[in-house]
Amino acid sequence: MFEHLPLYAGDPILGLMGEFAEDQRPNKVNLGVGIYYDAAGAIPLLPSVREAEDELIAQHTPRGYLPMEGSAAYRKAVVELLFADSVGADRGVAVIQTVGGSGALRVGADLLKTAWPDAAIWVSDPTWDNHLGIFQGAGFAVNRYPYFHPHTKHFDFDGALAEFKRLPKGSIVLLHPCCHNPTGVQPTREQWLPLLDALQAREAVTFLDIAYQGFGDGLDDDAWLVRECARRGMEFLVASSFSKTFSLYGERVGALSMHTATPDVERVFGQMKLHVRRNYSSPPMFGASLVAKVLGDARLNRQWQGELAQMRERITAMRAALVEGLKARLPAHDFEFLAHQQGMFAYTGLSAAQVAVLKAKHGVYAIDTGRICIAGLNESNLGHVIEAFAAVMTAA
Ligand code: LMR
Repeated sequence: MFEHLPLYAGDPILGLMGEFAEDQRPNKVNLGVGIYYDAAGAIPLLPSVREAEDELIAQHTPRGYLPMEGSAAYRKAVVELLFADSVGADRGVAVIQTVGGSGALRVGADLLKTAWPDAAIWVSDPTWDNHLGIFQGAGFAVNRYPYFHPHTKHFDFDGALAEFKRLPKGSIVLLHPCCHNPTGVQPTREQWLPLLDALQAREAVTFLDIAYQGFGDGLDDDAWLVRECARRGMEFLVASSFSKTFSLYGERVGALSMHTATPDVERVFGQMKLHVRRNYSSPPMFGASLVAKVLGDARLNRQWQGELAQMRERITAMRAALVEGLKARLPAHDFEFLAHQQGMFAYTGLSAAQVAVLKAKHGVYAIDTGRICIAGLNESNLGHVIEAFAAVMTAA
């Protein structure tokens, strides 16, 4: 009955995670999936989260259904973290808890498809691979706007601006407010301003995907684009996630927010709930209750911000150590571009063939596109990774 179905080739990121788990080599290094590992190479359980967990477990709460929109305390905390005081009294925000950032993207995509069945979406070239899957899965034609300049290895400002200026009116445009996945390349604020002007002139519907708030320059700096769009009174969507910043990957804790030009959000809020009901009825409880507990308690919130800063600083230190190590090992090559990238990912410029050799010969796992997760590096594996990079970059 199902013979006509195509074989699933597997996911380029999650598939690699499975392959890594099977690899028996003791010196293997996982720089594939976007997961923060600590200095000892483990996924941390943040002390603030552990404390909240102890308290919540001690309460032995019964597990009724959450409403379609999720936990009220969690939703309030999400709006404060993303928008701070940028939402004017004459504007509104509707927010729902979702099954991770991916769930937020999918519910948002379904809602946009209902609102504008004929619109197309533009994503950065390149973007997170699953953006394509999610938006195509929701029935959208997905186009790309220039983003990473292959020669300069920096943001292609002229290319992106020119593309934005010629978008069909009412197009949907996906932006990464910080820590771009997969390149780590980020427009400056001076560059964002004309880009937003162009999007507003084309009446584009902006969809911001922010999965790494606090991993770039800090909680407020990383949310600048969200707040700038709000200050401009734009109508836009935000998909956000606590997978990385709370180290709660498997709990699937995300949110979809919609900023509206009037305070009346009932219509869009209803549509968000409708699409949740049709997809999965209501979100799970536990992860969101951990986040709500930490963010809602002044002491735990401060503690978490400190833990987040430690993760950010470790990522920054590992990026600097990688660049220094590569420069020392391969003085004829230019690695300066890597130092300017932001967040968890580095776009190394390695080819798919070089990445394959990295894995096969050296046990170093990266994504085919040359993306590596800097947060997989530590003092113990850095030397091995630098030697492996040097070997593939100098191979005849
Ligand atoms: C990544 O980009 O590696 C992460 O966001 C994990 C995922 O789901 O792909």
